Amino acid sequence: MKLNGKVGIVTGAASGIGLAIAEGFAKEGANITVADLDDEGGNKAVEKIKELGRDGLFVKTNVTKREDCKRLIDETVKKFGTIDILVNNAGLQYVSPITEFPEEKWDLLIGVMITGPFLCTKYALPYMIQQKSGRIINMSSIHGLIAAKFKSAYVSAKHGVIGLTKVTALEMAEHGITANAICPTFVRTPLVDKQIDDQAKAHGIPREEVLEKVILAEAPMKRMLEPEEVADLAVYLASDSARNITGAAIAIDEGWTAQ
Ligand SMILES: NC(=O)c1ccc[n+]([C@@H]2O[C@H](COP(=O)([O-])OP(=O)(O)OC[C@H]3O[C@@H](n4cnc5c(N)ncnc54)[C@H](O)[C@@H]3O)[C@@H](O)[C@H]2O)c1
Repeated sequence: MKLNGKVGIVTGAASGIGLAIAEGFAKEGANITVADLDDEGGNKAVEKIKELGRDGLFVKTNVTKREDCKRLIDETVKKFGTIDILVNNAGLQYVSPITEFPEEKWDLLIGVMITGPFLCTKYALPYMIQQKSGRIINMSSIHGLIAAKFKSAYVSAKHGVIGLTKVTALEMAEHGITANAICPTFVRTPLVDKQIDDQAKAHGIPREEVLEKVILAEAPMKRMLEPEEVADLAVYLASDSARNITGAAIAIDEGWTAQ
């Protein structure tokens, strides 16, 4: 097993990619703290981790709140003794032209997808520095590498978290800690399902055409990723095999950015 006895925290692990990563880590022998706003999904995720034979903990967390991020780290260390892997994965989308983009949605998306990763990283690093090893994995997106219309906050946050990843990698290189970002194209999760109507409205096309004309329009392979396919890369980055990979923003984009 690649992560035997390791302790991981996955934010946004009640659903989608985060849930797949939590399960992927547990299959490789890690104990996991699930951090999410969603109690029901968070507790179900812990049940799944336990079914896989590992220990799990749910800490209800709003990653935009300093005290929640501190408590997440404290409760993890209290239960499991340390932190080996932090996955900053919690996220959400909002689709609207800049001229109509609600300012409170801007604050929320930036808070969840840049401030949250900064806070969790800041509070987790002292434990990793102490043990001279650790892994930070930030969930960026294809939209951390290229832009899309009507996603100003999301594109800004996902570009920004790649910057945070690079700084973390440089500062932590001497401590045996790596930091990398994963940049997937569209993945079959509730986050994508929820944006179909807004995409149809913003692009002025029927709902049924969103998949072909917007979501898969630029993707050479014309398919959506499954959450488990993203989890496989996270498992690799968390493993010892990836010890020399740091500061990277790794695309799983089916050739999208090769164009
Ligand atoms: N689905 C995609 O196509 C895709 C592509 C590239 C990147 N991503 C990124 O992957 C990550 C996971 O997305 P997903 O598609 O699995 O979405 P999802 O909606 O299935 O899961 C997101 C999870 O984040 C949680 N969350 C939201 N705000 C939170 C907060 N303030 N504090 C704690 N938890 C919070 C939600 O409750 C939910 O469980 C996001 O960062 C997203 O931007 C998704």
